[in-house]
Amino acid sequence: MQRDLSEELRRIYNGSPDELLLHTARYERLLALYHLSFPGQTSAFIVRAPGRVNLIGEHTDYNGYAVMPMAIDRDFVFILAPRTDGIIDIINESPSFERKTFDTRYPVPPYQQGDWGNYAKAAVHGILEAGWIDPKKSVGFQAVVGGTIPESAGLSSSSALVVASALAFLTVNDNQIDKAQLAELLARAERYVGSEGGGMDQAVSLLAETGKALKIDFFPLRTQPVGLPENLSFVVCNSLIRAPKSESIRYAYNRRVIECRLATALAAKAVEEQSGRKIHPNRLADLSGEKLRLEQCTVDKIVAQAIGEKPLSLKEIAQHLGETTEVVQKRLCTLRDGSMLTEPPDGFKIWNRYKHVVTEAQRVDLAVGAFQVGDASAIGKLMNESHASCRDDYEISCPELEALVSIGREQGAFGARLTGAGFGGCTVNAVPSNQVTRFIDGVTAAYYHGYARQEKDRPFTNYTNLHDVIFVCRATTGAGAWPSKGDR
Ligand code: GLA
Repeated sequence: MQRDLSEELRRIYNGSPDELLLHTARYERLLALYHLSFPGQTSAFIVRAPGRVNLIGEHTDYNGYAVMPMAIDRDFVFILAPRTDGIIDIINESPSFERKTFDTRYPVPPYQQGDWGNYAKAAVHGILEAGWIDPKKSVGFQAVVGGTIPESAGLSSSSALVVASALAFLTVNDNQIDKAQLAELLARAERYVGSEGGGMDQAVSLLAETGKALKIDFFPLRTQPVGLPENLSFVVCNSLIRAPKSESIRYAYNRRVIECRLATALAAKAVEEQSGRKIHPNRLADLSGEKLRLEQCTVDKIVAQAIGEKPLSLKEIAQHLGETTEVVQKRLCTLRDGSMLTEPPDGFKIWNRYKHVVTEAQRVDLAVGAFQVGDASAIGKLMNESHASCRDDYEISCPELEALVSIGREQGAFGARLTGAGFGGCTVNAVPSNQVTRFIDGVTAAYYHGYARQEKDRPFTNYTNLHDVIFVCRATTGAGAWPSKGDR
């Protein structure tokens, strides 16, 4: 028996009756487009995967420390049916993204860098590579896809597309999935597009719960739902500066991943020399005070003394580690695609990156407590501190995000911070629920009708609808697939 669409949507989005009407209209529009695109053919499934807003815990995931995002009511939806010839054929509702057709033979060769189809290919390639589906027997699918997550804005539109594509592929192949295992697989699979991301985005897209944020721990993946205080709303504001993961910010992001890898090696050496014991860390969290059974401040002091607070050249790092620069480069600066990260001209900022990651991890733990007791001002303070650390030590902010964060605070947010990888994209603001309208009006006047119009030389992206650049997030449930209501 097929479930009723609006009942399914009520469960997923948990929104007001008006919002539900809009969601239903959107799904019906996609169903209609499916019938127009594949005349006379029945749709079999609907797949949905949400984007996310990260509330706190930035750039901690790949270091093995926790994050706390929530899934949002902006997502990718696929209307699809299986194809026994193993071909995948996807039509995007948006005319800016051309139709993609490829077959599911392994390995799946990528399109050109920056092509949207690579996110679907990343999912398929990853699943085949892991042996979850036998390429010789794999069923493909034809689909119409529609997305409402602002693109290149730090809200994980790319991971949501990877997750939706994976669920579509697994569903038509009748593959029973464990969502946590799939999240881990897709975090690796997404590196197909070239950035060395952590596992936050895929995990929250798959495992989120309605009305809750999700504290996520990694290696191994564990999740803990965290209730959201009723008197607080989370408002996302897009800076209108694009931060495309697969393009310009790739180097900046990968650089930080490598800096943390170097920090791990240097910190381990320092701790080994002090304590006389051998440690074999895979990432920074393996050197936490808790793991080493030392006070965190003791570990931090050992690291600071050993490596100093100034940026280091590759040569200096190699000297610290007692190795040649070639060995260090090969062992620690190699990216997954085999290429080597070029040395940044301003040096590797090991101490600052270390400091951000360690203090951010502490803020995530404190934030869980603050959310649990509904302490809005403590939540706001932690968000503000997180932003300062992202700006000063991790250096992932930009002038537009700075303007937007200040405006957010002036307009009554308890806390405002950049969210996601940074270098542009969005801020997230914790706003008293009864002041959301006033807040949105205030930010609109000051940023969208003020700052962004005055700074004419900056590369702001255009928008047609304010609701797509500043909006309240509803915490929705994680990704899923269900039988399509069928065809009328
Ligand atoms: C991107 C990555 C995530 C995470 C964030 C920064 O979104 O995909 O894994 O590292 O940046 O917190």
